[in-house]
Amino acid sequence: MTERVRVATLAELGPGCMRAVLVDGLPIALANVEGTIYAFGDACRHEGGPLSAGILIGDTVTCPWHGWTYSVRTGKSIVPPIGLRIPTYAVVIEGDVIYLDIVWA
Ligand code: FES
Repeated sequence: MTERVRVATLAELGPGCMRAVLVDGLPIALANVEGTIYAFGDACRHEGGPLSAGILIGDTVTCPWHGWTYSVRTGKSIVPPIGLRIPTYAVVIEGDVIYLDIVWA
């Protein structure tokens, strides 16, 4: 089942910024990369560090705890260990509002 959930407004997420949201207890990070909004799991695959508190450079996010780095577009780890992935979520913009389409299993 897919559920569309309102998570923020564009005014709350300026270019180059990240923000943490909770959707039914699911930690999700939002990132604004040059005007494009991406959504991905906010728990690092290493030890669960909060990626939304990390460093956003271009379309990559680096975990604040030990530096694992992921693509915010694909969720793939881009430094060893290669092949790990964090979940990504479909973003829908309507007017000034950011929605996520969450697929619940
Ligand atoms: S918890 Fe993210 S790199 Fe260790």
